Amino acid sequence: MPTITNYSRRRFLTHSGLGLLAYAGIPKLLGAMEGMQAMPKMAPNKASSNFKPDVELELFCRSNSVAILPGRPTLVQQYSAKLLKGPQNTLTEIPGSYLGPVIHLQKGQRIRVHLINKLAEPTITHWHGLHVPANMDGHPVYAINPGERYVYEFEVLNRASMNIYHPHPHEATAKQVYHGLAGALIIKDEEEAALGLPSGEFEIPIVIQDRLFDEKNQLIYVRHRHDRMMGFYGDRVLVNGRSDFKLNVASRAYRLRILNGSTARIYKLGWDDGMPITVMGVDGGLLEKPETKPYVMLAPGERLDVWADFSGRGVGSKLVMRSLPFSGVLPKMAERMMGGGMGGMHGGMMQTSALPVGSDYPIFTVQVTQKVSDSPKMPTQLSKITRYKISDTANPNKAVPIGISEAPMAMLLNGRPYAYDDVQANERIPINTIQLMEIFHAHGGGHGNPASDSENESSSNGMQHGQMGGMGMMNRMNDDGDGQPSGQMQHGGMGMMGGGHGMGMMGGMNHQDNGQQGGGMMGMGGGMGMMMSMAHPIHLHGQSFQIVSRSISEDAAEDYATVRDGLIDNGWKDTVLVMPGEKVRIIKPFQDFKGLFMYHCHNLEHEDMGMMRDFLVE
Ligand code: C2O
Ligand code: CU
Ligand code: CU
Repeated sequence: MPTITNYSRRRFLTHSGLGLLAYAGIPKLLGAMEGMQAMPKMAPNKASSNFKPDVELELFCRSNSVAILPGRPTLVQQYSAKLLKGPQNTLTEIPGSYLGPVIHLQKGQRIRVHLINKLAEPTITHWHGLHVPANMDGHPVYAINPGERYVYEFEVLNRASMNIYHPHPHEATAKQVYHGLAGALIIKDEEEAALGLPSGEFEIPIVIQDRLFDEKNQLIYVRHRHDRMMGFYGDRVLVNGRSDFKLNVASRAYRLRILNGSTARIYKLGWDDGMPITVMGVDGGLLEKPETKPYVMLAPGERLDVWADFSGRGVGSKLVMRSLPFSGVLPKMAERMMGGGMGGMHGGMMQTSALPVGSDYPIFTVQVTQKVSDSPKMPTQLSKITRYKISDTANPNKAVPIGISEAPMAMLLNGRPYAYDDVQANERIPINTIQLMEIFHAHGGGHGNPASDSENESSSNGMQHGQMGGMGMMNRMNDDGDGQPSGQMQHGGMGMMGGGHGMGMMGGMNHQDNGQQGGGMMGMGGGMGMMMSMAHPIHLHGQSFQIVSRSISEDAAEDYATVRDGLIDNGWKDTVLVMPGEKVRIIKPFQDFKGLFMYHCHNLEHEDMGMMRDFLVE
């Protein structure tokens, strides 16, 4: 194990994870909802007198009414902020947008944020991408009730990067983000400043989200559980909260800071005239060198830092950023239905047919409105990134598993739905270690028999991949907490998949339940696994990670070829798109802060369905 520089400050250690001790009194159930797990309620954190902030702001969540489409305004939920202390340029509004203000921070600044809940429901804010103590991270256990205030205090430890702030309350993240609660948080540092990249009016945040409206211009969200299975999709793409977003530019280079703030939609970004996309950075900041890509995949939660040079283009010329055609991210069966323009499906599936995932559609238009002769040159070297080696990790032969399983009624990780205080052996991470982790489809995703996978024994602490889906199904059903598959429970699970779902695709599988498998998805074998399998953007809280390798199963290779050239694996990431049949190995440090840090699918409907777990750093 290599030595790790621990750059945390003492005072942060007093925050780390120990907030759990502040848990007082009887667990309070937050809403009836459909969840089975009780989420305790912690006392909201208060300002500490020995923390001296460089930047202090109040951040409000409230309902508001905002013009998005022509005609009637739309009822949304919205962040707004008030700067109490710090540089004047800390907050910049996106005019006319329901999005929260862009928060601009400098590495090294100490930040205090007073989150003030003026909604009619609990909320808590998470700083997606930031490396902060566990009780500053917006874990759902810290959700505050209407009228309450939660005080965050942390130092900005991240390098220059674009991050996201968004709600994270138990089983309601997607709903609140969908209704408008989200904003960009941009960190700058000296390394980046020295590059002289386009800034000010030449550095443009681009937040891409899809939404569905009714005829009164009001947002439509999940009305039926079927709406959530593949995630919820709108039929309209908004940029920076506008349905008519246009970018007027001068004929010079710009820096586009792109964020996919959709709850589920995956984009394949490309310029309509075939100009390649020049990528300078990803989630966790700058790459070492710019990469030129024919197109770039952008899944929910992911960010891109793009060098867009419009020099040489005439006044009046236009360029469109589109989502280009691709396949394979939705279950085969759903893709076929949408492709065939089939009606009759509920909610999300039908709506997606208006703007199918993987179809070709415009996102926004750039128009050159001014001719200038001067443009900055793109640096050839952007940063220095030390690549982790597997031998740097504490567990080179035993990757921490993140097993994805999909079932009609439950989206799971490592075979279990989210539950508070349910940390498994696999999920305990010694502090100040670097961990090798492996994200894979637990049902086999077309491997046929994943238990014979050569890497199996390195990845799951003696639990076979194939068992996970089944066990999780049972837990979800029975909530008895023992997690042991039993014959009776298996039948319960299969029965559940056979009925109540409405897609009619599971019925034929019962005969395969011969009682010898771990149960659940495993019993379906490879073919059925691929039918159900879909792409998941897997996000890990805490420090950024590096992607070590990807491997794809034979039967998924054809679809994979439509997205492969748009994956960028060289930078620091906090969210990684995992395609059907794909296995991704990552290396992630867990430094400085003890406590619970979530990992989950950033298809936010999946997150709210339980496709989320906690790591306990201890
Ligand atoms: Cu952006 Cu836990 O999420
Ligand atoms: Cu996050
Ligand atoms: Cu997912």
